[in-house]
Amino acid sequence: MPVEFRPPRIAVVIDKSTFTRELVMASGAFGLCIPGAGLADLTYAVGNASGRDGDKFSRYGIAVTPGPLLGMPIIEAGCAAWLECRLIREPHAEEAYDTCFAEVVAAAADDRIFSRGHWSVRDDNEVLHTIHHLGGGHFARAGDAIRAKSP
Ligand SMILES: Cc1cc2nc3c(=O)[nH]c(=O)nc-3n(C[C@H](O)[C@H](O)[C@H](O)COP(=O)(O)O)c2cc1C
Repeated sequence: MPVEFRPPRIAVVIDKSTFTRELVMASGAFGLCIPGAGLADLTYAVGNASGRDGDKFSRYGIAVTPGPLLGMPIIEAGCAAWLECRLIREPHAEEAYDTCFAEVVAAAADDRIFSRGHWSVRDDNEVLHTIHHLGGGHFARAGDAIRAKSP
């Protein structure tokens, strides 16, 4: 979730039992990739496997490019966006709530779905619609935008 816009900061829960957490704590950085609906199966697969049991990028044939600032493994194909993040150490939040804070130092989005600061969910960019895990491999797809009446 976003925590602040200027500077851009986020919070993310990364369980202390995961290999990801170990790598984030050791390197002080991570890449955050926002999968589109077209990657639901892959998202569920990598979320049910651990990098401790072997490199998930090669196991699932995931193409990565090094991020521009921190060299984090960034996935573009099928993702709506990615963010390169530098960890902000908050030991209490990490220990007590597995919550990690970070400053976003680089980011990009697929301009078919996000451009000039706005999301545009349409039928023709369905594969890039963001997905929200409902549990058990069920995802909600953010596929329909509604406009609230101005107050
Ligand atoms: C759709 C999905 C979403 C998940 N979200 C999170 C999450 O937000 N934080 C977390 O710590 N684990 C989450 N998990 C569980 C991790 O992906 C899982 O523990 C994984 O094995 C960790 O891999 P690693 O050991 O390579 O880091 C999620 C799993 C799935 C399938």
